[in-house]
Amino acid sequence: MVKAVRGMRDILPTHSERWRQVEATILRILRSYSYAEIRLPLLEYTELFARGVGEATDIIEKEMYSLADRDGDSLSLRPEGTASCVRALEEHGLLYNQTQRVFYAGPMFRYEKPQKGRYRQFSQIGAEAYGFAGPDLDAELIALGHTCWQQLGIGDRVHLQLNTLGSGAARLAFRQALLDYLQPHAEALDPDSQRRLQSNPLRILDSKIASTQAILQDAPQLLDFVDADGLEHFQALQSLLQQLDIPYQLNPNLVRGLDYYTHTVFEWVTDDLGAQGAVCAGGRYDGLVERLGGRDTPAVGFAIGLDRVMLLHELAQPDHSDISADVYVCVTNADCLGAAMQCAQRLREAAPDLRVRVHMGGGQLKKQFKRADASGATWALLCGAETQEDELVIKHLRDAAIGQRQLPAGEALNQLQQI
Ligand code: HAM
Repeated sequence: MVKAVRGMRDILPTHSERWRQVEATILRILRSYSYAEIRLPLLEYTELFARGVGEATDIIEKEMYSLADRDGDSLSLRPEGTASCVRALEEHGLLYNQTQRVFYAGPMFRYEKPQKGRYRQFSQIGAEAYGFAGPDLDAELIALGHTCWQQLGIGDRVHLQLNTLGSGAARLAFRQALLDYLQPHAEALDPDSQRRLQSNPLRILDSKIASTQAILQDAPQLLDFVDADGLEHFQALQSLLQQLDIPYQLNPNLVRGLDYYTHTVFEWVTDDLGAQGAVCAGGRYDGLVERLGGRDTPAVGFAIGLDRVMLLHELAQPDHSDISADVYVCVTNADCLGAAMQCAQRLREAAPDLRVRVHMGGGQLKKQFKRADASGATWALLCGAETQEDELVIKHLRDAAIGQRQLPAGEALNQLQQI
């Protein structure tokens, strides 16, 4: 039997209902903030990500699923959604002289070492806003994420970490100062950080290795390089978060693994998932639209890692139901199968949210009840058992006191909706 590709998961029927509900909650909140959906391709030219995410990032250096198209073009499965989102809005002229608030949802692909909470195909829901330079939009996006955690019941499991990278120029100056400081210590750094010294020194700041952290203690501080405008932006954001009652922690080592960020960066992190602490991450990326060939456009956004949110949801609500049907239609004799299917159809039309399953494959009523029980259904509808036309026999499967009763069809259909 051919197995699934390493790091690519199946979401099985026992879990998909939870996924559906969590996704529906987040999408409803995005809509309530008036973000509009944008659907983006899974494949893009590799160059888009190389230029967008940055050549020197782990994602581009070693995590892309790239392939040559039949005509020789290099294409890649998207490792994230932000670069594609900018590409699409720019390509359709939607960034010119207007603002945008959009969201996208779907799978992303990164060739990472798989473990719990880290997969090679994973799902994100991302939100992005364009044309707003102020901290108000940073605050709105953070509030949006906060609302998601509250409504999903995982609010006490995630907390917000915040930092500012300042303008592109501030970041460059800091990079040089950090390099000057680290170079004499190069031998003592861990191998990953040694490699990053050449390619992406800022990433050394979030190294988890104790010896590297010790060296970093006296390193120059990013905040000292942020100019007055950058500081004002950051302070205004913090003031808004305080007014919105959203707690946060300043983390000067939060630098993010993608190259496009400027000013605000943030991560919603958890202690409940071991090493995979970030459940949602984002920030401002004012330079990206221009870097990809558009006009200078301020931008800010985040992406939720749904696989991790789902793990937290499981911890918060371990006995979430995996019921597959609400009403189980039993067929008391083979002749009434057609009538049973029609009756089920009426019920589905009357109550589109009910999950109605018709027993298939015949057999004794006893066996049908067993199946009804296993489906998790609350009610059984016994087609063919009625003694009066236009009446239906229903049986409550979870409460013997209600038991079985024959009712006029309309009344019975009403009862079945009382799950
Ligand atoms: P990111 O930090 O690379 O940012 O990913 C965002 C979130 O996706 C992470 O916090 C994590 O929850 C989830 N994630 C990332 N990699 C994996 C993986 N291998 N397995 C499971 N979950 C994963 C971005 O992607 C940016 N595009 C976010 C953004 C949007 N910034 C501005 N706008």
